[in-house]
Amino acid sequence: MGATMDRTVLQVSIFGLLLAFGTTQPKDDWEIYSFHINSTVISRYATTVITSRVVNRKDEPQEIEFHVRIPKNAFISKFRMFMDDQVYDSVVKAKEDAQQQYTEAVSRGESAGIVSSVGRTLEEFKTSVTVAALKKVTFELTYEELLKRRLGKYELQIHARPMQTVKDFKVDVHIQEEAGVNFLHVNGGLSTGALANAVTKAIADKQAWVHFYPTVEQQKTCDSCGEEGINGDLAIVYDVNRDKSLGDIKTSSGYFVHHFAPSQLSRIPKNVVFVIDKSGSMHGKKIEQTRTALIHILNDLAEEDFFGLITFDSTVSYWKRELVQANSQNVKNAEGFARNIIERGGTNINDALLDGSRMLNDNPRNGSASILILLTDGDPTSGVVNLGQIHANVMEAIQDKFPLYCLGFGFDVNFNFLEKLSLQNNGVARRIYADSDADLQLKGFYDEVANPLLTDVTMIYNGGANLTQTNFSQYYNGSEIVVAGQIIDNNIETFVPRVVAISRNASIVFSEKNSIAESTDNSNIQRVWAYLTVKQLLKKELQLSGAEKEKVKNETLRLSLKYNFVTPLTSMVVTKPTKDNTEVLHKPNEEAPQPSVRTTLGRNNPLLGSVAHDSLVRHSTRVLHTKRRPVSGIPALAGRSGSPGHPPSLGGYVLSATPMLDMDHDMTGRSSGHVHKRLQHVPNILATSIPVVPPLIRFLLQAESQSLPLCFDIPAQIRLRLLLLPSAELSVNGELDGKRGFNKIVVYFSTTCIIEVDTRRVAIHDGPFGKILPWLTGQETITAGSATVIKRDKEVDITLGETRLIILLHGNAGEKYLWPVLKQQISDNNAEGILAQKPVAYEEVQQPLSTKLKIKDQEISVSRAMAADYSFSPAVILPCWLMSAESALQARLSDFTIFTL
Ligand SMILES: *[C@@H]1O[C@H](CO)[C@@H](O)[C@H](O)[C@H]1NC(C)=O
Ligand SMILES: *[C@@H]1O[C@H](CO)[C@@H](O)[C@H](O)[C@H]1NC(C)=O
Ligand SMILES: *[C@@H]1O[C@H](CO)[C@@H](O)[C@H](O)[C@H]1NC(C)=O
Ligand SMILES: *[C@@H]1O[C@H](CO)[C@@H](O)[C@H](O)[C@H]1NC(C)=O
Ligand SMILES: *[C@@H]1O[C@H](CO)[C@@H](O)[C@H](O)[C@H]1NC(C)=O
Ligand SMILES: *[C@@H]1O[C@H](CO)[C@@H](O)[C@H](O)[C@H]1NC(C)=O
Repeated sequence: MGATMDRTVLQVSIFGLLLAFGTTQPKDDWEIYSFHINSTVISRYATTVITSRVVNRKDEPQEIEFHVRIPKNAFISKFRMFMDDQVYDSVVKAKEDAQQQYTEAVSRGESAGIVSSVGRTLEEFKTSVTVAALKKVTFELTYEELLKRRLGKYELQIHARPMQTVKDFKVDVHIQEEAGVNFLHVNGGLSTGALANAVTKAIADKQAWVHFYPTVEQQKTCDSCGEEGINGDLAIVYDVNRDKSLGDIKTSSGYFVHHFAPSQLSRIPKNVVFVIDKSGSMHGKKIEQTRTALIHILNDLAEEDFFGLITFDSTVSYWKRELVQANSQNVKNAEGFARNIIERGGTNINDALLDGSRMLNDNPRNGSASILILLTDGDPTSGVVNLGQIHANVMEAIQDKFPLYCLGFGFDVNFNFLEKLSLQNNGVARRIYADSDADLQLKGFYDEVANPLLTDVTMIYNGGANLTQTNFSQYYNGSEIVVAGQIIDNNIETFVPRVVAISRNASIVFSEKNSIAESTDNSNIQRVWAYLTVKQLLKKELQLSGAEKEKVKNETLRLSLKYNFVTPLTSMVVTKPTKDNTEVLHKPNEEAPQPSVRTTLGRNNPLLGSVAHDSLVRHSTRVLHTKRRPVSGIPALAGRSGSPGHPPSLGGYVLSATPMLDMDHDMTGRSSGHVHKRLQHVPNILATSIPVVPPLIRFLLQAESQSLPLCFDIPAQIRLRLLLLPSAELSVNGELDGKRGFNKIVVYFSTTCIIEVDTRRVAIHDGPFGKILPWLTGQETITAGSATVIKRDKEVDITLGETRLIILLHGNAGEKYLWPVLKQQISDNNAEGILAQKPVAYEEVQQPLSTKLKIKDQEISVSRAMAADYSFSPAVILPCWLMSAESALQARLSDFTIFTL
């Protein structure tokens, strides 16, 4: 170990001399020079691509590892490596077919099969390749996932841990929801502390963008980061608008997806029985947390609910033998019982569940929803212990009359047994992690089923075929029912969706004409269908045996192969250049985490499980001349691709717009279909619009929360102060081109660095150093002092200390222009310039003939207008409130103009 360290240090110092301007090169002998996560979510289906570009800085070959984290719920669908102008595509094969390659890999001493479960929600993907001296490799991993609605929101989890700081690090998320994005939050460790400024987001009607562009400085200084850079999660949380009760039905190429989540319904009173394991193994924290959660849950019961409380060890005890109403007296008494639950004895799951079922069956209150919840931390050890017998007994007792939810506490439970038990009885099983927040996990699960809105939901699709699950015993507020299928003969005319269900006081039918939208941008509906079908078949298989099981397995395998999903039935065979040979990756069985991971599962240490660790050690002894370190860590929930606007994103601040687009139009609502159609025609509008005299250029200014942005016009021939940050010795100025945007932008940084960008080139000067990068050449990265400039085809990405600025090149041939976008939120109160403007807070004041906005106690007349947002490429047209520049900026325009660049 000591010898390895010395060698590393030596390499770093030599390496430092080689780079003229390097100040941030990593200490490793290989460098990730670019790390991108790109997630596209279309109608809740997320496709994420992680791209990591790495260079071997050594003058000898070495093994370089790609190591990321993805959501457990996702299926990997593609993995590629690019090296030496060669593409190495991985293939998904049936597990049996990959078996030989797997065996060979194992016999070579390689740890084949490197997808493993980590923590609660993530899975680790790891592979490596030998890279020649001073050569580069690009790893590209794609995974797909249908986001699930829980407690009124969808959450896309992105995990990032590249294991070094990366100059070109970015996360781009683009959400497209036909129904309109209702709210958007960014949570997770990476959105806090110093990194909060690196998150920017925007909502435009049916689309939303989140960007995370941390500079190298920020990658080191955030709470969970160190010299090894970023380590943590981003959670992108949103929901969509829901106006139609039948929900959204989208179709494309003969497939449909139906999202059903009505919310304007009265809650149905429930009968809920909690069956709580108090066997000896619950001793200590588990039983304490269970008591705490139970007391919270009891207090949250609505007075119209009825409840029962059963505890069991070897025998079964009740608080009351029958269901009682959740009035305050009863809840108070039950609390006393809950506080005194003492753990001891064995685990008689069978008798406890049969008693719980009896309670519910004895009280079939009309118009209410019955729910049975089991919490246990171990296998059955007393009474009936034969698992198959328990399954049969419980099914017999429940007879599809209510759902059974099983919560498995900790890792000593036989989760397969619980899952099968739930699935056979219309419920789901959930794991409760034995951790400091176990009480919150329990309460969180209860909250999901706390408000039944419908029971006996049957989704009917005349003219549909190959449907995913259509019968649901209960529908809860905050969740969503998703059904996908095929449309027979792709005939929309004869395709009639309907939902029949029982609500609080009546049986209702949801049906709507014109509820079906032909999807314009989605080629992914078929994949959503495949994803859901495979997920459901995997569950079905669990409940079957014999030939039926085989049949379901065959079908699951066929679909997994057809759609290239790495599922528990398939493997991914990673092809590598000779010498390395192939490697076989299996998806772990998500319900059976390796016990060895358990000890490292602490919430604050969701890192390498011991499994991963072992394999690292093994490798470094095998390949003696090589120092291996994991490369990249990453994301968790992601989206799907194939849509227009990729957005370089606006930090939420100033965007731009075009001369005088159709103003005062019939913009009735943010989610009207019109806006969307217009978006598609943006390029035409731009190409033909002729500036009015005097030429003006429209700017956008973001508003706080989800309000419409403001916009204002300014003369098209002035020079503007874009940003002045005295504390960072940074200033950015721009010159408008009289027509569309900027023709030149100049950045001054510290005392010596000047970056000039115009429509032909990017010029960088730093003292004696100088470099010109024409736009026409390919991607290049230049480091000058603490400035890093990455020039891509249509944008230049400039990092200056803690600030990251992107300048986009818009237009074509003769008509090019620039637009600046700040990728950092500016917290410095001394900042000046158009880009430093903070989002504006306003209130709308409706008047008979006009609209006014109240900003800081001042009422300002505004009109509806449209503006092109040039922080996106191609630009996106948005509705906005038009006002004078002075009103929007709350200052004179002359405060923003300058004489020279
Ligand atoms: C359902 O949830 C929504 C918010 O997500 C809330 O406004 C509504 O009141 C809830 N309805 C019931 C019956 O709980
Ligand atoms: C239960 O309610 C349904 C209507 O929802 C009604 O038809 C039925 O008669 C009721 N049964 C009882 C026992 O009250
Ligand atoms: C779904 O429910 C309907 C009526 O409730 C029933 O006729 C049908 O057989 C059920 N389908 C399945 C697949 O269970
Ligand atoms: C059902 O209940 C809702 C509100 O709880 C009420 O508006 C509606 O009239 C009721 N319908 C019937 C058929 O009783
Ligand atoms: C499953 O597939 C295998 C191989 O394709 C075939 O031999 C077997 O008969 C199939 N089993 C069933 C039950 O369809
Ligand atoms: C992200 O992926 C989408 C779909 O493949 C693509 O259109 C878009 O350009 C990508 N965005 C970035 C910033 O790479």
